[in-house]
Amino acid sequence: MNDYSKISPETLSAEQAEVELRRLAETIRRLNHAYYQSDEPEVTDAEYDALRQRNQAIEALFPQLMRSDSPSTLVGAAVESAFGKQRHMVPMLSLDNVFTAGEFEDFLERAARFLGLDEKEKNALELIAEPKIDGLSINLTYENGKFVKGATRGDGLEGEDVTANLLTISDIPRELGADAPELIEIRGEVYLSKKSFFEINEKQLAAGQKLFANPRNAAAGSLRQLDPKVTARRPLSMFAYAMGASSNRPCKTHEEWLDLLQSWKFAVNPLRERLSGVQAAEAFEEKIGHIRSGLDYDIDGVVYKINDLTLQERLGFAGRAPRWATAWKFPAEQAETRLEAIEIQVGRTGALTPVAHLEPVNVGGVLVSRASLHNEDEIIRKDVRVGDRVVVQRAGDVIPQIIGKSSTQPENAQRGSAFIFPDHCPACGSAAERPPGEAIRRCTGGLTCPAQVVERLIHFVSRQAFDIDGLGDKSIREFYEAGLISSPGGIFRLAEHESAIARREGWGELSARNLMQAIQARSTISLSRFIFALGIRRVGESNARLLARHYGTLDILREQMKKAAIIGSDERLELGSINGIGSAIADELVAFFIEPHNIATLDDLTQYVTVQAEAEDAITGLLTGKTVVFTGTLTTMTRPEAKAQAERLGAKVTDSVSKKTDYVVAGADAGSKAKKAASLGIPLLDEAGWRELADGKA
Ligand code: IVH
Repeated sequence: MNDYSKISPETLSAEQAEVELRRLAETIRRLNHAYYQSDEPEVTDAEYDALRQRNQAIEALFPQLMRSDSPSTLVGAAVESAFGKQRHMVPMLSLDNVFTAGEFEDFLERAARFLGLDEKEKNALELIAEPKIDGLSINLTYENGKFVKGATRGDGLEGEDVTANLLTISDIPRELGADAPELIEIRGEVYLSKKSFFEINEKQLAAGQKLFANPRNAAAGSLRQLDPKVTARRPLSMFAYAMGASSNRPCKTHEEWLDLLQSWKFAVNPLRERLSGVQAAEAFEEKIGHIRSGLDYDIDGVVYKINDLTLQERLGFAGRAPRWATAWKFPAEQAETRLEAIEIQVGRTGALTPVAHLEPVNVGGVLVSRASLHNEDEIIRKDVRVGDRVVVQRAGDVIPQIIGKSSTQPENAQRGSAFIFPDHCPACGSAAERPPGEAIRRCTGGLTCPAQVVERLIHFVSRQAFDIDGLGDKSIREFYEAGLISSPGGIFRLAEHESAIARREGWGELSARNLMQAIQARSTISLSRFIFALGIRRVGESNARLLARHYGTLDILREQMKKAAIIGSDERLELGSINGIGSAIADELVAFFIEPHNIATLDDLTQYVTVQAEAEDAITGLLTGKTVVFTGTLTTMTRPEAKAQAERLGAKVTDSVSKKTDYVVAGADAGSKAKKAASLGIPLLDEAGWRELADGKA
């Protein structure tokens, strides 16, 4: 693979940026693992921070290339909504991705090494392959064989209670067979068939409502309906595929588990297969890739899981993903179409982004009519002009992008002239400047620019921020243009205009009242969401969470940011020392909190909003707070496995024995460490003793 790690973010092309983002995601993931799981940092904190900052800088320049496993979004979205919360008994994690046979081989190799398997055993390791359904994962809880509740994935630890809506799905049985464990969590993917998706969009169109971008979004919107009667009209389906918590293990292999699910009347994907080795996995991937477009549901790859549940348990998890499974994702989908126009959009932070208007084209089942052209240099580099035939690419949820000109252009096509990027903001006419070394031109109008004001308000109410139901892009634009809102605080004053809103076209008393209630319901919010909602440049969800955790309350944050404005102050040093917050982010924060207009906005807003202090999440296990040392040759498990098991139970694993060590586990030929343990009076366990301790029997 090409190495672009030395190229500064501003000079990367989109293709190079994509490669770099991938490399950074992988590197940061590995370093996180070394740091958090193995307690063996591979690099200094400064080097680590530099990598995260580089990743953020590239993401800021190419937001459309942001990966779903981006290091800046390592933790999923926290739950906060009209639905009740439900804590999963066993966390719902995600899967690592591979894109090539080589990467798949690495996955298999890692698992084999962890288990101490030789080459032959590795190649014979049984895997179950099943399509990766592109829907929403959910967790269903059954007690004494009866369906009692169900929740979305949420942040993996707790999700939204959508039980009432799940009851409308016929693929979800109300009762399991008599052989069901007393308590069991069953997991799967809720999705909307392609056919139903098109039908729903037709109805939305007829009703003048917003169209859903793809079946996944439509399924998500349907499952999160406050009124289950609306969900019932959306024919959602579900494939079951995984087990969460269970009072006893009802089977020995994943294959048996799928059969059991089927015997309980769950829908289980019919395309699953048992196979072994890289070649068979690749053949399956290709086969599914070929039939993909003919399936009535969206899939985005194939999931491979080690069949034996005992091996799954031994392998456990690394970070957020299991070591016993991986997702082999399909490559991004492309199509060709005509470029009809180039429009400049002004974002929340004033960035001018060129957007391509296209003759609508079907890209992997989704109709695309707009795509990103990144920035002005990219337009020049690709030399795309109005009238050209261009290649559009869509991968997952990201905004479609223009890859370049198509290799075949229609004869005597009418080519427009080269695009001239404006040096003034198309929304407010202020100068649009491009600082030296940066790829993005920005409007200098600040809050005098209506486009920036509107985009900030849209960000403020968005899903990850205040998440106000019924207040989407369209209504924000409408209310702004009607002079009803111009600042975040104004949203909470909309109640003063309730009757005026009720009289507006498309509204009515009921909708206006519902909106006011939805706004009122959000007048208490967590500090991390609040910080994110402010829309400070470079402060995304994950940085907002870091800041919220560090400062705890809004008052402390405000006080500290004011003091941090002085370079060299203790407060500035403290801000810079938060792991993950680099100097560029610190600069943006300080700039935000010294700007009088922002302070006035905050003072106004906090009259209506209560910001809750951030809660710490505690990890507790059987061995929480204990320190364990493994030494000598272990015979019943490999060293990484032993370590992972200890960490799963909350223990810290270190290399050297000291007074702080709680247990030393000695395999064969344990030398000086075992002796030292004895001299310090630290309990010395053999492997059997360790297993008893880990099983809670010691
Ligand atoms: S197994 C420990 N099997 O993909 C994770 N996941 O990228 C076990 N998904 O969050 C997940 N089809 O929502 C599994 N056949 C399948 C799947 C599947 C889709 C989703 C699931 C998961 C995500 C991970």
